Amino acid sequence: MWSRAISFEQGHLTISGLSARELATQFGTPTFFIDEDHFRARATAWAQSLQTNFGASAGNVYYAAKAFICTDVARWIKEEGIGIDVCTGGELAVALAGGIDPKKIEVHGNNKSVAEIERAVQVGVKTIVIDSLFEIERVAAAATKHGVRQAVMLRLTPGVEAHTHESISTAHEDVKFGFSIASGAAAVAVTEVLSHASLELRGFHCHVGSQIFGTDSFELAATRIIALMAECKSKHGIELPELDLGGGYAIAYMPGDVTVEPEDVLPALSVVVKRECAAAGLALPIISIEPGRNIVGPTTFTLYEVGTVKDVVLKDGRIRRYISVDGGMSDNIRPSLYGADFSAVLADRVSTAAHALSRVVGKHCETGDIVIRDIELPSDIAPGDLLATPATGAYGRSMASNYNHVPRPPVVAIKNGKARVIVRRENEADLLALDVKE
Ligand code: LLP
Repeated sequence: MWSRAISFEQGHLTISGLSARELATQFGTPTFFIDEDHFRARATAWAQSLQTNFGASAGNVYYAAKAFICTDVARWIKEEGIGIDVCTGGELAVALAGGIDPKKIEVHGNNKSVAEIERAVQVGVKTIVIDSLFEIERVAAAATKHGVRQAVMLRLTPGVEAHTHESISTAHEDVKFGFSIASGAAAVAVTEVLSHASLELRGFHCHVGSQIFGTDSFELAATRIIALMAECKSKHGIELPELDLGGGYAIAYMPGDVTVEPEDVLPALSVVVKRECAAAGLALPIISIEPGRNIVGPTTFTLYEVGTVKDVVLKDGRIRRYISVDGGMSDNIRPSLYGADFSAVLADRVSTAAHALSRVVGKHCETGDIVIRDIELPSDIAPGDLLATPATGAYGRSMASNYNHVPRPPVVAIKNGKARVIVRRENEADLLALDVKE
């Protein structure tokens, strides 16, 4: 749950030797702190495990940029030699700004604009993952226009119910993503792609969902997709060379949770993929994956300062302590959007006070602005104290908003005991920058 470089000595959080208080003084609060070496290590652990388990058939680890990206992080990805999955023109622009080789970029999105498709084709991305029949025509037209044969994959919905929150489950039938295997839409899409000389069908992609523990849903999805690959072979006489199994590997948010590590899933997946391919008489395709949350999530924590503390008497007579911090749903929308759980610790001093039932809330003008619904925290927490919330690296800063005109927090990278800003804090001028003045 906490990054590797973080330690607690007598209640004082330090990251790579820098104390929470020092960090708050230097960078202000709220701030996201990311442990750069931990990010790099998690990224390479996935790449190594893919290599170990699939050998010559190991493809790319495409880091899912949506979890969190900025130019510096794109540079880390480039330096570690992994790939990146982008799903908008904006994410593509950051990947390119960080120097990532277009041949390491995979482009997603269920409604890519023609301009986004053209840019992707023009810069020479490795693969465009096609999500609709319209898009087959659009990518084919863009490829023809630029005089290239574009490598594409088809995003499939294998009808798998992933055990996660409904909003982040993506491969059952009733979703906007991909082509359904069961309904025959996938087979139609294959025929369509093959009819375009400007498209090279590399294979299939699926993403079953996010924050998934266990391997069952990945295995079922792989099995169904491999069956379709076999169908393609018998129907069209082609063996598709690639299979991308998406991301979704879960991380620990709460004490007692255990982050999924590459070796917890990839060996099981390789057994299933090899078994199913052998049974279908197919050569092993090149296997790629797209972890986002699992790489960045555990590497980052948010540091808040407590502003107010208020006791509220509940109907049953218990007291709930509302601890307001200087951020909230604008820097972490996950609790309000998905009912997601987070934890927090008092980061800058030791407290021996008894614990009190508390709710950590933000500074926004709405009741749903909750960072942590229920948590036992020392009863002497007071204004000025620092609270640290672990595992906020994925979908924290990337889903941050300016609700209530709150400036979005900075991201500070820590490496070798040195902290540096990689995304600066927004200020009032930023908030006013888009308003057109007469
Ligand atoms: N690949 C594709 C095609 C995806 O759609 C996603 C996530 C990923 C990879 C990366 O999934 P990850 O490994 O990070 O779980 N905002 C939500 C998560 C939405 C994920 C959407 N797609 C949250 O905060 O939980």
